[in-house]
Order: sequence, then C-alpha cells, then structure tokens
Amino acid sequence: MKDPVNSSKKSSAKGGDVSSPSGFFPRWMNINIIAQDVGFFILGLIGASIVGWVIFPAVLYSKHPQPINFNHALHLDSEKVDGIEGETKAEKCLSCHVFRDDGTFAGIPKLEKCTECHDDPESPLGETPQEKAFMTKYVADDKEIPWFVYSKQPDCVYFPHIAHVKMGNIDCTTCHGDFADNEKLPLYVKNRLTGYSMNIWGERISGFYWNKKFSDRMKMDDCARCHTEKGQEQNNACFVCHK
Ligand code: HEC
Ligand code: HEC
Ligand code: HEC
Ligand code: HEC
Ligand code: HEC
Repeated sequence: MKDPVNSSKKSSAKGGDVSSPSGFFPRWMNINIIAQDVGFFILGLIGASIVGWVIFPAVLYSKHPQPINFNHALHLDSEKVDGIEGETKAEKCLSCHVFRDDGTFAGIPKLEKCTECHDDPESPLGETPQEKAFMTKYVADDKEIPWFVYSKQPDCVYFPHIAHVKMGNIDCTTCHGDFADNEKLPLYVKNRLTGYSMNIWGERISGFYWNKKFSDRMKMDDCARCHTEKGQEQNNACFVCHK
C-alpha cells in the first residue's frame, strides 16, 4: 500500500534539503559574496537616501521667519476681533485683501489697514508679546512690515487675481489651501538655486503627489492644467502669462 506521507518524505530527501544553501542555490553561486553585495547595496542606499532626503534639502533651501507673527484665525474670529467687514469668511478676506477700483489686487494689506484698529502704540488691544512687538517695531515708527510672500512668482509672470476670483469664481483656498486658518505663520523657505519659494515648486523635489492639489505647488504646468480643465486653453499661450 502506498503511504502518501512516506512517499512525499522520500521525494523531498531525493531533491536535497531545502534549508541548506548548497541544495537551494546552484553550487557555482557563492552565498557569502552575494550577502556582501546585498550588504553594500543597502549601505549605499541608506547613504544616498540621507544625502538625498536630508542633506541636499538642508543645503538647497534657506529658511526665513516672518518679521512678526500674524494670526489669521484670530482676526477672522468675530468673537475676538470685531470690525473686520463681511458676513462670511470669504467676504472677510476681501476687507484686507482688497481689489482696487481699477481691478488690480492690493495683495497683503499695508500698515494703514492695521492701524484702523491698532492705532495707539501705548494701548494694545490684547495682551500678547506678539502684539507688543508689532506695536513698538512698526506702529510706533509708522514703518511697513517687510513680509515674505510665499506664493511670489518671478517678475516675468502675469497673474491677475481678478480674472480668477471674480470672473473664474475660484475660491482663495483652491490655490492657497487652508492658509487663513493659521495661528502661526510658517517659515518662508527659499530655494537657493532658483530663488523660488518652496510654495511654488512644492515640498516634493520629485514633483510627485498622490492626488495633486493646486495648493501643493504652482509651476507653469500647474497653471496650464487648470486652464485646460476649465476649458480655458486660449489662456495657455505664452504671451497670456508672460507679458
Ligand atoms: C486683518 C487683515 C486680514 C484678513 C481679514 C485676511 N488676511 Fe490674509 N494676510 C494678511 C496679512 C497681514 C498677510 C501677510 C502675513 C502673512 O503671510 O500671513 C496675509 C497673507 C495672506 C496670504 C499669504 C500670501 C502669500 O503668498 O504670502 C494668503 C494666502 C492670505 N492672506 C489669504 C487670506 C484669506 C483666504 C483670507 C480670508 C479667509 C484672509 N487672508 C484674510 C491680512 C489679512
Ligand atoms: C478690525 C480691527 C483689527 C484690524 C484691522 C487688525 N487687528 Fe490685529 N488685533 C485686533 C484685536 C482686537 C486683537 C486682540 C485680540 C485678542 O487678543 O483677543 C488683535 C491682535 C493682533 C496681534 C496679536 C495676535 C496674537 O496672536 O498674539 C497682532 C500681532 C496683530 N493683531 C497684528 C495685526 C496686523 C499686522 C494687522 C494689519 C494687517 C492687524 N492686526 C489688523 C484687531 C485688529
Ligand atoms: C487661481 C489661483 C489663485 C486664487 C484663486 C487666489 N490666488 Fe492669491 N495668489 C495666487 C498666485 C499665483 C499668487 C502670486 C502672484 C504673483 O506673485 O504675481 C498669489 C498671491 C497672493 C497674495 C500675495 C500678493 C502679494 O504679492 O502681496 C495674497 C495676499 C493672496 N494671493 C491672497 C489671495 C486671496 C485672499 C484670494 C481669494 C480672494 C486669492 N489669493 C485667490 C494664486 C491664487
Ligand atoms: C484653479 C484654476 C486655475 C489656476 C490654478 C490658474 N488659473 Fe489662470 N485662469 C483660470 C480661469 C478659469 C481663467 C478664465 C477666467 C475668465 O476669464 O472667466 C483664467 C485666466 C487666466 C488669465 C487671463 C486673464 C484675462 O485677463 O483674460 C491669465 C493671464 C491667467 N489665468 C494666468 C494664470 C497663471 C500665471 C497661473 C499660475 C500661477 C494661473 N492662471 C493658474 C483658472 C486658473
Ligand atoms: C498659464 C500661464 C503660463 C503660460 C501659458 C506659460 N507660462 Fe511660462 N511660466 C509660468 C509660471 C507661473 C512660471 C514660473 C514658475 C515656473 O518656473 O514654472 C513660468 C516660468 C517660465 C520660464 C522660466 C522663467 C524664470 O525666470 O524662471 C520660462 C523661460 C517660461 N515660463 C517660458 C514660457 C513659454 C516659452 C511659454 C509658451 C510655450 C510659456 N512660458 C507659457 C506661467 C506660464
């Protein structure tokens, strides 16, 4: 009678013991050398990853803190700050980030907007050291705050806010993300080689994102991608964005 257990045992014995190197690998392959090669490969990979992901970015980018902290979340909270015009959050943005009568965008508000409320350096509205610093450094001397602009494009690029916000009906958040929920301003991170802010080239040097959003980066192809998606291909001619 044939015993299945026994017969399988016999055939495995014939084929050699699987766990022994001499049986599993052909004789001409030297396991030690392979192990060494794999070891060197892994060491090299770790070394290259440290250079690529830690050292290179540290050398490539310079980091600058903003001159003072501006707390968007606080100024948009009507319980804490009264007097920013607008019913909705989106309307409130436009009370500081105004469109002038000629349709141009004022961008970051000037000091005179702030001094509508922060008018007396001797009597701050709150009790924080940030406000005190703001009062003594800028309000008292009537000096503009030299903000770093995260989304600043090179001078050769023409970007009209009015076409996007008013005609295109695109939310600020589509391009700027949830920036206005910030209580603390992020560092301004500048690429030493190109002079671009990291917000333009994006956090990933590879440019690869799962589910890429417009707020992740804003290079030439990102602008063009939205124009194509919105059926605005006529705005993808060089002279439309480069005047
Ligand atoms: C009280 C005035 C005020 C209001 C209201 C306000 N902001 Fe600002 N915003 C500022 C100031 C000052 C700065 C410059 C400092 C900084 O980067 O936060 C700024 C900067 C920004 C920037 C950064 C631009 C760049 O590229 O550096 C974005 C984006 C922005 N605001 C969006 C918004 C949005 C969206 C809203 C409405 C939800 C809003 N802001 C409401 C005053 C205001
Ligand atoms: C409508 C009135 C109003 C305007 C306009 C306004 N602020 Fe304020 N701000 C306040 C009030 C009120 C507080 C104090 C809130 C608190 O501490 O509860 C404050 C607080 C601050 C603080 C301290 C916040 C913190 O987190 O410690 C800073 C700094 C500041 N404002 C800067 C600015 C700058 C810069 C501008 C101009 C772009 C500006 N503010 C415009 C009303 C205003
Ligand atoms: C279609 C994308 C897009 C939308 C929508 C958009 N922005 Fe921008 N924003 C940009 C780009 C691009 C820049 C840089 C422009 C440049 O440097 O020429 C910028 C710059 C800014 C700046 C800095 C301007 C400066 O140089 O002083 C502020 C502040 C700002 N945006 C606020 C807003 C607010 C508030 C809204 C909504 C009302 C908004 N943006 C909607 C793309 C957008
Ligand atoms: C999220 C979508 C979106 C992104 C991102 C975007 N655009 Fe646009 N853009 C539009 C739409 C929609 C229009 C057409 C608006 C209209 O005329 O109704 C437009 C129109 C324009 C125009 C023509 C304006 C005019 O006066 O006719 C220029 C210039 C332009 N975009 C530049 C840019 C640049 C530069 C960038 C990148 C920094 C950019 N856009 C990113 C959606 C976008
Ligand atoms: C939809 C808007 C848009 C269109 C259309 C467009 N560009 Fe650009 N271009 C940009 C933006 C935004 C930048 C800056 C960011 C970057 O380098 O990608 C840029 C950067 C550049 C630069 C690098 C400039 C520098 O100082 O780094 C060159 C060169 C350029 N564009 C050439 C072209 C040419 C040629 C065309 C036509 C084939 C074209 N662009 C069409 C938006 C546009």
